[in-house]
Parts: sequence; C-alpha cells; structure tokens
Amino acid sequence: AAPTRYEAERAPATCDGTIDTNHAGYTGTGFCNGRNAVGAALQFTVDAPQAGTATLTVRYANGTTSPRPATLTVNGASAAQQSFAPTGAWATWASATLTVPLDAGANTIRLTPTTADGLANIDHLEA
Ligand code: GCU
Repeated sequence: AAPTRYEAERAPATCDGTIDTNHAGYTGTGFCNGRNAVGAALQFTVDAPQAGTATLTVRYANGTTSPRPATLTVNGASAAQQSFAPTGAWATWASATLTVPLDAGANTIRLTPTTADGLANIDHLEA
C-alpha cells in the first residue's frame, strides 16, 4: 500500500520550534525548524493497522556541514540514533529511513536532538 504521510507542521505533530516556509521544496504548508537546543523535539503520531516492525521515512534538510544527531523514541522507548547528515543546502531535502517496532493503533514517534544545534529541518514522516 502507499505510505501515509504525516506532515511535521500539522497536528497532532508537535514541533518545539517554528513552522517555517523559507526553504523551498517542502511538502504540505511548511516544515519544522526545531529550536537549536538539546532536547528540542519533534513528535509525530503514527497509526499502524497492526503491531510489527515498520519502515519509516523522514524527509529532512541539513544545510550545515555537520550532522544533526537525534535519538528516536517510539512510544517512549529509545529505538535508535539517527545522524541526519548534511544535505548540502537547506532547500535540498533527503530521506532518512528508520526501522521501528510499532504497536497496533496510535504510536508516538519522537526525534530528540542530542546536540545544541538541535534538529535538522524536518518536512514530514511517511509510514
Ligand atoms: C538557518 C536556516 C534554518 C535552520 C537553521 C539551523 O537559520 O535558515 O532553516 O533551521 O539555520 O541551523 O537550524
């Protein structure tokens, strides 16, 4: 089946930062520009028809020359570290693939930055 897209700027997603539109190429009406701080998280709520391992895709941009690492937590449990490597420009969007365990029904997927630079700009998640 085609993946479901969850926009970072659309509730129930929550972005600890601003919803911005100043870098072209985003989908929906904007993207999450998280605060440049440790812990300034972005949370998605993802619905799964059944429990099991799922592959999620996060569309992001990182116009700096350093990674923007984040901890991925699923339903409160730490699932993985993700580096969010530079994409070359803030208007150049790339996909990071995350493999996570989901419960049936609603799941909280949280990206929490581990450095003072905060998160990469995040456009959406597909599940
Ligand atoms: C720039 C850029 C923002 C980005 C920020 C950052 O200000 O325009 O979109 O979020 O850098 O370094 O996080």
